[in-house]
Amino acid sequence: MLVTGAAGFIGSTLVRRLLADGQVVIGIDSLTDYYDPSLKRSNLDALSHPAFTFLRADINSSNLPELLDGVDVVFHLAGQPGVRRSWGEEFQEYIDANIAATQKLLEAMRSLPRPPRLVYASSSSIYGDAESYPTGETASPRPRSPYGVTKLAAEHLCRLYAADFGLHTVSLRFFTVYGPGQRPDMAFTRFLRAAVEATPITLYGTGEQVRDFTYVDDIVDAVVRAGTLEVAAGSVYNVSGGGSHSVNEVLDVVRRLVDHDLVIDRQARAAGDVLRTGADISAITRDLGWRPRFDLESGLRAQLAWVRATSVAGPGV
Ligand code: UGA
Repeated sequence: MLVTGAAGFIGSTLVRRLLADGQVVIGIDSLTDYYDPSLKRSNLDALSHPAFTFLRADINSSNLPELLDGVDVVFHLAGQPGVRRSWGEEFQEYIDANIAATQKLLEAMRSLPRPPRLVYASSSSIYGDAESYPTGETASPRPRSPYGVTKLAAEHLCRLYAADFGLHTVSLRFFTVYGPGQRPDMAFTRFLRAAVEATPITLYGTGEQVRDFTYVDDIVDAVVRAGTLEVAAGSVYNVSGGGSHSVNEVLDVVRRLVDHDLVIDRQARAAGDVLRTGADISAITRDLGWRPRFDLESGLRAQLAWVRATSVAGPGV
């Protein structure tokens, strides 16, 4: 099995799960500096295992047919993340990492006599401010950010290569993933670290924006099912925690967990930030028997424990 983006938050959690399941795993990651690469290196250090091989490389400049030789499933998690940074000149990075790299993988797969299955990590951001809630997979996509445009374009590519070349692709639309190891630019890690260190929390907009947050172990479980169970080629599924929580509600839970008041620094709404996400997950429950197991409070508690353990100020602060 090949995991692209293996050093990242979700990728490294997936590799750990696959190794625990007894799989032989190749990981590829270019270790970009979108956030501190030493965090990705420590993710990799924790994955040291005889059944795990890591390759530091960019998909766009790799010999992919060689890399894919003998691989049965590709979990394609590599990409340029981050909704808020995808405007302006940064957009080229999103095109290269999210669209071009996916197209190269699909082309390489097409050249093989026995192409692997591809599970593509898509995103709730393809819906934008959705036409209805809970949002089903057939809702018309209308991304609100350039990031969402690139995630949708790559999803369309997966569908095209499934339709015209018979490749076995599955796209999973992840809804705001959190938990231990979460990227340092994402809300929960920023909130919890600031709460633990008693520094100001940046709040974009009113805090009334709602997200269907998803715990990382639940995401990984859906990814493994999509890579290993019977599933139609070209299919697309939402994967979400199944709850609707405003950012203000999240801050209330954080306040309760750390048991002291928070310093909030209010900033303007971020460009591209949607008002609400909320998924209909009946399709993945029906077809893959998947449902989320973690609720927001237990997931946040686990993430807080991780933040405390990795805080510069040391555990227990
Ligand atoms: C997240 C990921 O960053 C994307 O890579 C992913 O594709 C997307 O989820 C998705 O589900 O498709 P986002 O929902 O913006 O995007 O995730 P967070 O960074 O956790 O932000 C959640 C909310 O908190 C947003 O409304 C954001 O504006 C707010 N926020 C974030 C703050 O108020 N302060 C912060 O410091 C960070």
